[in-house]
Amino acid sequence: MTNATNDKIIIAPSILSVDFTRLKEAVDLIEDAGADWVHIDVMDGHFVPNLTIGPPVVKSIREETKLFLDVHLMIEKPDLLIPDFVAAGADMLTVHVEACTHLNRTIQLITKSGVKAGVALNPATPLYVLEYVPETVEMILLMTVNPGFGGQSYITQMTEKIRKLREWINWTNRKVYLQIDGGISTANIKEVTTAGANVIVAGSAFFNAPDKHRFVSEMRRLSDYCG
Ligand code: DX5
Ligand code: ZN
Repeated sequence: MTNATNDKIIIAPSILSVDFTRLKEAVDLIEDAGADWVHIDVMDGHFVPNLTIGPPVVKSIREETKLFLDVHLMIEKPDLLIPDFVAAGADMLTVHVEACTHLNRTIQLITKSGVKAGVALNPATPLYVLEYVPETVEMILLMTVNPGFGGQSYITQMTEKIRKLREWINWTNRKVYLQIDGGISTANIKEVTTAGANVIVAGSAFFNAPDKHRFVSEMRRLSDYCG
């Protein structure tokens, strides 16, 4: 946990864009490519207009890998399912501020379970909602597309948002990851890491890359994160 200068960026491929009958293969590809985390997109068909996977699938993935499982909960009433995702073996649970009536309580529920807590903001959600987010939060996720689907285009306005959040993180001296999610590839990794992102989710760009090891090395080479 750090936001110290010159830390290497974390690459977190999202399995949303894979063939779900071949999840083990997808996780093996992430490991072999030298990526850092597995990003798992959980959608409930209410908070976002798509329905994906739940705790049993996270448990199956947990049995196949030792990689850090970064679970992005795009669901309403996350408190009801947090214990199941904890039991399934998630390492980090990220909840949306837009989906939590009692965000402070939800964060406590996650951290008391011994799992890292993250907080996510949709593209149109202003940064000021973070002002009273507990210091126990270990990651802030800025959505750089509207959540629900892989393969969308990066919303360019988000670069300024990343920059402002990085300034705030540095100003408050918080030890928190700045994750971005949606439309990230070798074409814009430099822009977003220069702005201050240090955890990069890549779904379609990773899984469409013919040589995934090379893709991860390129992402690291092109990133210019300097804290
Ligand atoms: C979108 C998901 C993302 C998505 C990213 O709701 O949260 O994690 O899978 O996919 P790409 O990289 O294709 O935009
Ligand atoms: Zn995601």
